[in-house]
Amino acid sequence: MRYLPACILMLLTTPVFAASTEAVKPESGMVVAAQPAAAEAGMAMLQKGGNAFDAAAATALALGVVEPGSSGLGGGGFFMLYIARQDRYVMIDARETSPAAAGHGEVFESRSSIDGAQAAGVPGLAAGVDRLAKKYGKLGLKRVVAPAVKLATDGFTVSSRLAGMIEWRKAAFNPAARELFDKKPGEIIRQPQLAATLKQFGEHGAEVFYRGETALSLARDLKRDGGLIGLNDLGEYHAVERKPVVFDYHGYRVVTAALPSSGGMTLAHIFGQLQDDDLKRLKELDRDHLLIEAMKRAYRDRNRYLGDADFVTVPYDYLAENRLQELRDSIDMQHASPALDIQGVGEMFSEGHDTTHFSVVDREGNMVSATLSVNYAFGSGYVSPSTGILLNDEMDDFATRPGEPNAYGLVQGQANGVEPGKRMLSSMTPSFIIGPERTFILGTPGGSRIISMVLEASVGSMLDEAPPDDWVNSPRFHHQFLPDAVQLEPGFSAKLAGQLQGSGHTLQWLERPYGNMQAILLDRKSGRLTGITDRRGEGAVSRQP
Ligand code: GLY
Repeated sequence: MRYLPACILMLLTTPVFAASTEAVKPESGMVVAAQPAAAEAGMAMLQKGGNAFDAAAATALALGVVEPGSSGLGGGGFFMLYIARQDRYVMIDARETSPAAAGHGEVFESRSSIDGAQAAGVPGLAAGVDRLAKKYGKLGLKRVVAPAVKLATDGFTVSSRLAGMIEWRKAAFNPAARELFDKKPGEIIRQPQLAATLKQFGEHGAEVFYRGETALSLARDLKRDGGLIGLNDLGEYHAVERKPVVFDYHGYRVVTAALPSSGGMTLAHIFGQLQDDDLKRLKELDRDHLLIEAMKRAYRDRNRYLGDADFVTVPYDYLAENRLQELRDSIDMQHASPALDIQGVGEMFSEGHDTTHFSVVDREGNMVSATLSVNYAFGSGYVSPSTGILLNDEMDDFATRPGEPNAYGLVQGQANGVEPGKRMLSSMTPSFIIGPERTFILGTPGGSRIISMVLEASVGSMLDEAPPDDWVNSPRFHHQFLPDAVQLEPGFSAKLAGQLQGSGHTLQWLERPYGNMQAILLDRKSGRLTGITDRRGEGAVSRQP
């Protein structure tokens, strides 16, 4: 396990911070997920006497079946856990790793890190779920796998949203993916090979996936079809438990994703810059301006300094209090700072994303905030025919072509270069925001915008001037350093946008909404639970009767 970097501890010891992490027992259990069938799969575990970790394992596997473009056995992710009886937070890092054959990234040209079998990193979800269910759950793997097996066997109906994703990505599908997923709204997707693979996983756990029959079939398919992942890569994969990034801000404790996710460090950077600001007292325009300027500075540093800390030396001092103060001092409250004056590292843009998030609470007070991904919609577009597993394209989250933007427009530094066995930097930010009265469990898909979405919802929960539904559903804004423009969701206040423009911000109105947040708010005094599912998606709140 890794320990907190000194600079984050410094944030923890700043006197204005005074949050307690103590939690009361919730009134019941709850699962909020991006698809109703997945939320129900998790709830079924709670109803059978399982805990939040059983529910999370079942939800994760079911999402991989009914939301196949977003996560699954061929992908990975991060599970943030709160273990109530130990009053302990831990992150299960099930992020993919780079296969040995990828070398130092020389094999990636043009879109080859996005489309096709060679774009896949070694999948981590099976190892993560295995650990989650066996170490923290009560029901055993076989029972938590059962709902996903049933969903894969019986099939599910294609929604118009999923059909849109299919249409957008189907050019990248291999024949096995086309056969399974090239469907119109109202048609049924059944995944018999995946059902068999899941069943094996339920019987034999991670062993069969990484070193047994599934590994042999997967490696054979990938070798034949140009993939880079070999049996050795699978055999060497392990999920890792990591200490979350923890920092306090004005009475709120933020427990969030550690490296290899950039999410927690980037949130710590932004809130660190704002230590002496009273966000509650600022006018909305000033607050948004400040958040945008802080994002700009934090994303710049993200791309420059962050990578898998098991492989590269992360200069944690980039979060030193005096440096963050200097960055805050460089913010002019009347005018936008041109991004390149803050020092640039290249061109960035952001488009296209898919990933998924869910949140779980049980009656004992255990909590899970999990963000899982296959990276781009439908990952690499490659389905291994003999296992039915859709492979991720997380190799694109590395800096595979120095100086060129990846699918999210991120131009990243050497710290995030490809190396055998290394985990690619992520933006996934499953988090807990623990306030004096309430705990907010949240996260979302959305590529490089994940961090700003979690930031804005967190700030919403701290301001508490609008109902919780608005923290999740208000129109969003985003700045990722370059291009030097504030991205605005449709519906963002035209008046506020005009004022931001008046302060010198360049605006980029987006054509479509983004993100799909799935959150739970726990009232720490009464135990009351409020589930909030993003209106942009098709999610559901499942409450234990
Ligand atoms: N694949 C998106 C991310 O991890 O940031």
